[in-house]
Amino acid sequence: MVDRANQQVYPLVPPDSQSRRSDENLEDSGPLIPDHVLKRKKRIKLAIYISAFVVFEIMVILVFALVLMKARTPKIRLGTNVTFQNFKTGTQARPSFDLSFTAQVRVMNTNFGPYKFDSTNATFMYQGVTVGQVTIPKHTAGMRSTKKVTVTVNVNSNALPSTTKLGSELGAGVLTLNSHAKFKGKVVFMFLMKKKKSAEMNCTMTVDSSTKAVKSMIC
Ligand SMILES: *[C@@H]1O[C@H](CO)[C@@H](O)[C@H](O)[C@H]1NC(C)=O
Ligand SMILES: *[C@@H]1O[C@H](CO)[C@@H](O)[C@H](O)[C@H]1NC(C)=O
Ligand SMILES: *[C@@H]1O[C@H](CO)[C@@H](O)[C@H](O)[C@H]1NC(C)=O
Repeated sequence: MVDRANQQVYPLVPPDSQSRRSDENLEDSGPLIPDHVLKRKKRIKLAIYISAFVVFEIMVILVFALVLMKARTPKIRLGTNVTFQNFKTGTQARPSFDLSFTAQVRVMNTNFGPYKFDSTNATFMYQGVTVGQVTIPKHTAGMRSTKKVTVTVNVNSNALPSTTKLGSELGAGVLTLNSHAKFKGKVVFMFLMKKKKSAEMNCTMTVDSSTKAVKSMIC
């Protein structure tokens, strides 16, 4: 401390070496230390700084990699925008349904990389019985974006073993359908790193049989 204070007011030191010396350790500060020793120490110090910086950079990159390249499960839902092409429902006494509609499957990808999913089948069920099926072709949902796939679905009550529940639902003017699909795919990070990720769609839609429109969609 005392040394350094003296040094700063030392009148004979040229300005260039003074500024250099103020960066050095106290041991380096004597005017008797040869120049090449000072230079070597400076080089060692520079090497230490560079190494520290490289280590710091690697840590920053690792943190980014862990946060940004974490594979998140895409959310898949059926859009509420359902358009009916055919809408036939029976009565409480003669319960049946035969519908065809177009709907949008929305694959919401929150990853920092595209989600490539395979072709999959979505099943539509009434009271646990499959009443219709549609194939969703393979697609890619871009990085942090939503892929909308339009599908046309036909569902009918032919496969139902019992229509008692359907009768009471139709009597109340509703029809409740469940749609389910399992997606298999992978998230691609930095164009080459692939991480497998499965996702599921599980939506319950309630159709109003008098207005012939979707009343609610819960996914
Ligand atoms: C609803 O879907 C139809 C066809 O499926 C499409 O033409 C229309 O643009 C959609 N509307 C909205 C608001 O998404
Ligand atoms: C979807 O269903 C069709 C017809 O039932 C079948 O041929 C196909 O293999 C199924 N695809 C998948 C991915 O399960
Ligand atoms: C779908 O969701 C419903 C209600 O949230 C649940 O009862 C059902 O078990 C789910 N189905 C699957 C296959 O996860």
